[in-house]
This record gives sequence, structure tokens and C-alpha cells, in this order.
Amino acid sequence: MKALVLAGGKGTRLRPLTYTMAKQVVPVANRPVLHYVMTHLQEAGIQDVGVIISPETGDQIQEVLSSNPWGLRFTFIPQEQPLGLAHAVKVAREYLGEDPFVMYLGDNLIGHGIREFVTSFQESGADAVILLKEVEDPRRFGVAEVDERGNVIRLIEKPKEPPSNLALVGVYVFSPAIHQAIQQIQPSWRGELEITDAIQKLLEMGKRVQSFVLQSWWLDTGKKDDLLEANRVVLDEWVQREIHGEVDDASQVVGRVRVEEGARIEQSVIRGPAVIGKGARITNSFIGPFTSVGDQCHIEHSVLEHCVLLEGAKVLGVERLEDSVIGRNAHVARTKQNSRAYRLMIGDDAEVLL
Ligand code: TTP
Repeated sequence: MKALVLAGGKGTRLRPLTYTMAKQVVPVANRPVLHYVMTHLQEAGIQDVGVIISPETGDQIQEVLSSNPWGLRFTFIPQEQPLGLAHAVKVAREYLGEDPFVMYLGDNLIGHGIREFVTSFQESGADAVILLKEVEDPRRFGVAEVDERGNVIRLIEKPKEPPSNLALVGVYVFSPAIHQAIQQIQPSWRGELEITDAIQKLLEMGKRVQSFVLQSWWLDTGKKDDLLEANRVVLDEWVQREIHGEVDDASQVVGRVRVEEGARIEQSVIRGPAVIGKGARITNSFIGPFTSVGDQCHIEHSVLEHCVLLEGAKVLGVERLEDSVIGRNAHVARTKQNSRAYRLMIGDDAEVLL
């Protein structure tokens, strides 16, 4: 069994971060989203992983995987344009050969590994198993209608009247029959070859498509609020207390906080769950729960809660910063106390809520 991880795409919903960064590389609890994906594949016993990359961000994806602590065999497969999830499979046709494969969207995070899900494919003899999750508002998702034995009957994209509350999570297992199905579909109204159409085609071809309902959480990190939510959940569930950096006597580090090497905390309070990256400096500040501070960040005289700071960000003299994502080397500072003016230098598509 191989895997195909989709790490191309445009990432328009996560601009401006994605002007300079692939969204699969954006950190959650200071680890690139893609690392969680690879951990799940390794745990499921997969060794060969094809990674779909785009011309714009392919180098970053290769770099972020280069340390390869999972011992996986990566093959990078360029997709010249993001013409859809099924298009990505088409581009990887030669690599995939006649093997069954797990397809995993590189910006999706799930709270549980995929081992049982992969086993269910091997045991079912189906041509596809799709991972589903019960959601509150299925109208925003691709939705599956399933029978009482979990066989998929039909898939519908963003239905006005959903036949179930089971949304498609971005993880699938396919037999090579999917390639025949993809050969027979046309681009959708948005110009993309849709994987939902290919799965629907499998059903029309008389193939069996089985479902597997995910019991843990699922987050798509493609938007700001989802990214913050992913950060909250991952910090809450996976971070352990580990202090490698320096904490002075006037500071307090409370609860599950990971302070990486070379970080320095002075006259501050850090309340977990939180992570403080390598070489970060925190002075006279309060870092509240559910905050990830990236490597080499600098925070002074500030209060932060439920924030994600990417590498090299600076926050100086800010009374209270909440629910915010600050990009690499971005700088947020109060200039004069009591000044009522804001002075901004904001990149394209940025969002500032004052
Ligand atoms: P999407 O989130 O559906 O698409 P996108 O990355 O273009 O994002 P946005 O809607 O914000 O513009 O993609 C899901 C995953 O699949 C994501 O990791 C990117 C990847 N992908 C490809 O690798 N190739 C493609 O052709 C598409 C559409 C997505």
C-alpha cells in the first residue's frame, strides 16, 4: 500500500500567510501540519509516500520533509496547476501503478491515527473506503449517504438538503479502480476534476464504496479560525510539560508548557497548554493558554491568549492580543501609550480587527 499526500493547491483562504508559505507548512503547536500527516501514515505501516507539490511551494514542502524522522520513502510529484483532487491522482498515475493507496489532504488534521481505517479497507474488499465525520452543518461539506451497513450510496457536494450529517474528511483509501473512474469524469463548474465525482463514478461502475466514521476530531487548517482551533485542540491533547529553555526566578510556568531550547522567559507568566519555540524571548508578559510562540519570537510587556505566532514575530507593549495569527517576522507594537491613532503596514489580504 502506498500513500498520496496532496500538498499542492493555492491556499487562497489562508492569505496572506500563503503568499509566502505553503499552507501544509503552517505550524500547529509549532509543528508543520504535514508532519502530523506523515506520523499518521508511518503509524499505519506505510513506507512509500508520493507527495503532490506545486511549482510555487514545492521547494518548501521538500525542505520541511527533508529531516524525515519517519523513515518514509518520498517521491515528489509536481502538479503544474491545481486542477482538482482527482487531477492530482491523475498526475500521480505512474507512481501509483497498480497499488492501492491512501490519499490524504496535506492540510487536514485528525485527532486519531488512520491504522484502523486502512485495515478496514483491507478487510472490506471494497474499491474505496472514505473517512466520514458527523458534523453540525453538513451543507458546507461534501456529504455521503450511506446504508445501514456503511456502504456509500451517493455523494453530494454542499447539499441544500443533506441526506445525512456525515461529511467527507480529506482521507480516503482507493484500489486502482479509481484510475478508471477518473478517466471517465469531466471538470466540474469550477474547472476542477473532483474526487467526489470520481467516487460517484465508482458507484455507477458497480464498485463498492465503504464508509468509516471518524470518532475523534477533524480539522481542516485552510482558514484562520480553523487554524486557531487546530492549535487549541493539538495543544490541549498532545503537549506535555517539557522545559528546555531558561526560566528566571521571577517567572512562573504553569501546567503543560513546552519551552524549547534557547528560549528565555523573564519576569513573565506562561499558562499552559502552550509552546514556546527555540530562541524565543519573553519578557514582562503573560502568555495565556492555547498559544504557540514560534522560534526566535520576541514578546515584551504584552498579554497574549489563544494566538499563533510564526517564526521571528514580535509583539511589544500590546495590552491584550487574542485569537490572532501573526506571520513570520511580522511586528505588532504599541508606539505611544494613550495614542488613539493606529499606524499600520499591512500586507495584501491581511485582516485587522481593532
Ligand atoms: P483545497 O483546500 O480544496 O484547495 P486549495 O489548496 O486550492 O485552497 P483554497 O481553497 O484556500 O484556495 O485543497 C485541499 C488539499 O489538497 C490542500 O492540501 C491542497 C491540495 N491540492 C492539491 O494538491 N492539488 C489540487 O489540485 C487541489 C485543488 C488541492
